[in-house]
Parts: sequence; C-alpha cells; structure tokens
Amino acid sequence: MQYFTLSNKITIPVTGSGTNSFAKVNKEYTGDTKEVRSAVKAGYRFFDTAEGYRNEEAIGKGIAESGIDRKEFFLCTKMSKREERPMTREDVQEALQRSLQKLNTEYIDLYLLHFPREDMEETAELWKGFEEAYTKGYVRSIGICNFNREQLSYLLDHCVIPPMVLQVKCNPEEWNTEVIRYAKVHGILPMAWGPLRFAPEYREPLTAIGTKYGKTWAQVILRYHYQNGVISIPKSHSYEHQVQNLDIFDFELNDQEMKQIAEL
Ligand SMILES: NC(=O)c1ccc[n+]([C@@H]2O[C@H](COP(=O)([O-])OP(=O)(O)OC[C@H]3O[C@@H](n4cnc5c(N)ncnc54)[C@H](OP(=O)(O)O)[C@@H]3O)[C@@H](O)[C@H]2O)c1
Repeated sequence: MQYFTLSNKITIPVTGSGTNSFAKVNKEYTGDTKEVRSAVKAGYRFFDTAEGYRNEEAIGKGIAESGIDRKEFFLCTKMSKREERPMTREDVQEALQRSLQKLNTEYIDLYLLHFPREDMEETAELWKGFEEAYTKGYVRSIGICNFNREQLSYLLDHCVIPPMVLQVKCNPEEWNTEVIRYAKVHGILPMAWGPLRFAPEYREPLTAIGTKYGKTWAQVILRYHYQNGVISIPKSHSYEHQVQNLDIFDFELNDQEMKQIAEL
C-alpha cells in the first residue's frame, strides 16, 4: 500500500474500501460482516463508513473478527444526522460517541461532516465540535464532504483548525475540479467517492488505455486518482473486484494518458 500524508502529518492509505451498501440486502440492514471480511482478506485496511449508512456496527465487528490489531486499520466515519432544528457542536459530540460505540473503537482515524448545513454559520458552529473532538483526541483527523468551493472558503475563514480531507464525488462524469484544486491549494487532501460509479460510455477509452498495461478500466481510473493526488474509496461486494481495485501499484500512466483521462 502507498500512503498520502495529511496536513497534520498523519498518514492515510491512498485507497480504501467504500462500504455504503455493506451488511445490507435490498437496503435492509442484516449485520452480515462478509463484505468487510472479504475486503480485509483482499488487503484493505482503510474503511469509509458513516452513521447514515447504518452499518457501523458490522464494520466494527468485521474488523474485530479479522483478529488484526486495530492500529493496522484506518477507520473513517461521518456525522450524517440531518436534524430539522439548528444543530450545535454538542450534536457532534453525541454523534461521535454513538459512532465510537457502534464501531467498537476508542478512536476514529478520520471523522467527516457528511454534508454542509444550508446555513453556513451553523456549519461553522458544527465544525467547532469537530475541532473539539480532534483536540480531545477522539479522532486523529477531521474533514468534510460535499462542500463546494464557496462553502469550503467560508469554513476556512471561520475555523481554527482547517479540515484535513475533502471527500467529494470524483469520476469522469463529475470531476469536481474547481473545489478539488482549491482544496489542494489549501493543503486539504481530496478523497473521491463514487470513483467507479459513472456511465458505461466512459469505460471504453479507459479500457483501451488499460490494455497496454494488462489492467481493467476500473484499475485505470483508480490509478488515475492516485497519480492525481486524490484518495479513492471504491466499494465492491465481489472479492475479485476488491483484489483488482488494490492491484494498481505496478504500472504508471504517462502524461498523455493522464491528460486524456482528465479531459474525458
Ligand atoms: N460522502 C458522501 O456523500 C458519499 C456518497 C456516496 C458514496 N460515498 C462513499 O464512497 C464509496 C464508493 O462510492 P459508491 O459505492 O457510490 O461507488 P463506487 O465504489 O464508485 O462504485 C461501486 C460500483 O462499482 C462496481 N465495481 C467495484 N469494483 C469494480 C471493478 N473492479 N470492476 C467493475 N465494477 C466494479 C461495484 O459493483 P460490484 O459490487 O459488483 O463490484 C458497484 O456497482 C461508498 O461505498 C461510500 O463509502 C460517500
């Protein structure tokens, strides 16, 4: 595995396993840990979950079942709860304690705010809760999801500790280039959700590039993210795909291929 370094100097695997549909059948929670166990067997040590996925318990259980030291894992979860009433920094502490309990862990490696609130003043207030969780040591790093450039700029103007990660959708259908560039300029590491969930017509040029290296379209796009300095969190229910999605470190896209993919 390769690692990126966050602005607070902690290291993070450059790719992890998404989990939003793990431990569920037809969106119903089953608690089954088979996908997590399969991902661990494939080599994943970084898992991205969220309170909103309703599967933190299964993620924590699957990790415990692996018998591998908790310290070997990088666990990311998100505060997702969207109350109608204005939310405060205390809501963050409560959500965090629920996640710690469900994940059965004493700390979280990366704690993310799943969505900005419509009211940015309220978002900045919630962020104070994230800063507090970080300062108290419950979480090793903090970040945000689904912010646009203006929202990120507002937060940077109203925070004490800037976010270390920005998780946004990033694939050939929607690169989110503007906010990703802006994040990089401010030392915030971008993370791509939905890196493989895009229309099939984009696959053909990626497949063509992959033929040269004996790689699939999925491996090419995940490699592209890595070379572009963007973490990816592909999700798969198939062991074969999980293994494939980690097998991206033995080839290198050239400048022309990187440019071609960026222009898809
Ligand atoms: N912050 C947010 O708001 C947000 C929003 C959405 C998602 N996320 C996170 O991002 C993660 C990833 O996003 P996602 O799950 O929406 O989409 P994704 O990982 O980009 O795509 C998942 C799809 O790709 C397929 N797939 C995986 N590996 C493949 C391979 N090697 N070859 C061909 N197909 C492959 C999967 O099918 P198989 O199961 O058959 O392999 C599945 O249908 C989520 O699980 C979640 O953790 C965050």
